[in-house]
Amino acid sequence: MQAAPKVHLAGAAMAQRSYRVIRQGDFMEGVTVVTHPLVQHKLTLIREKARSTKSFRELLNETGMLLCYEVTRDLPLEDIEIDTPITRMIAKQISGKKLVFAPILRAGVGFLQGMLDLVPSARVAHIGLYRDPETLVAVEYFFKAPSDLAERLVIVVDPMLATANSAVAAIDRLKERGAKEIRFVCLLAAPEGIERLRGAHPDVPIWTAAIDSHLDEHGYIVPGLGDAGDRTYGTR
Ligand code: PRP
Ligand code: URA
Repeated sequence: MQAAPKVHLAGAAMAQRSYRVIRQGDFMEGVTVVTHPLVQHKLTLIREKARSTKSFRELLNETGMLLCYEVTRDLPLEDIEIDTPITRMIAKQISGKKLVFAPILRAGVGFLQGMLDLVPSARVAHIGLYRDPETLVAVEYFFKAPSDLAERLVIVVDPMLATANSAVAAIDRLKERGAKEIRFVCLLAAPEGIERLRGAHPDVPIWTAAIDSHLDEHGYIVPGLGDAGDRTYGTR
């Protein structure tokens, strides 16, 4: 029998365990893991700590666009009549509720742009929240949303679902303001965050590119990608 290939870890990484993303591709009630190879490849690039701010931001934008494609996959269509240069035909167009993207500041904004490129007519609800570093409680500092949230499909956008304190606070607020149909899309989720968000808002389905191993003692996702806001904007 052949020996399993050894993973070579250099320098400081030798002392660390090497984590694999778990449950990738599994199905959980209300959770869709987007396993498309382009998404998975770009996610790997985003995770790398040596990646520049410019490249991180570009990749966040690109994965936002790809995830938007998945989160809107089941939007209803209706038939309309159009003229092609050749003939008249029955063609499809999106029907039903109009979209609102609701990015959670700051990192959600970096994730939003690719989505707006795909759905340029969507409205945007900005939700300013930061995690208190000690308590991990989400603190709101800004909220501005269209007034007709009840008539729209609201897609909450944040690359990270860690404790889910931010996602739950954002969705509480959107519901207070009338939102009835909400989806949540992120790049990385911790199992703890999924459980909390599904418990608090079971009517809100989740799309994510991966479900990682766990949260560390500071509430960071492991293996994760670090602090998404800092990496997007080059702060630290
Ligand atoms: C990050 C991230 C999420 C939040 C997730 O934002 O963008 O909003 O943490 O963590 P949670 O699930 O435990 O609430 P952060 O609070 O660091 O703010 P920033 O984007 O302004 O840096
Ligand atoms: N917020 C981040 O930006 N990264 C994490 O790992 C957890 C919360």
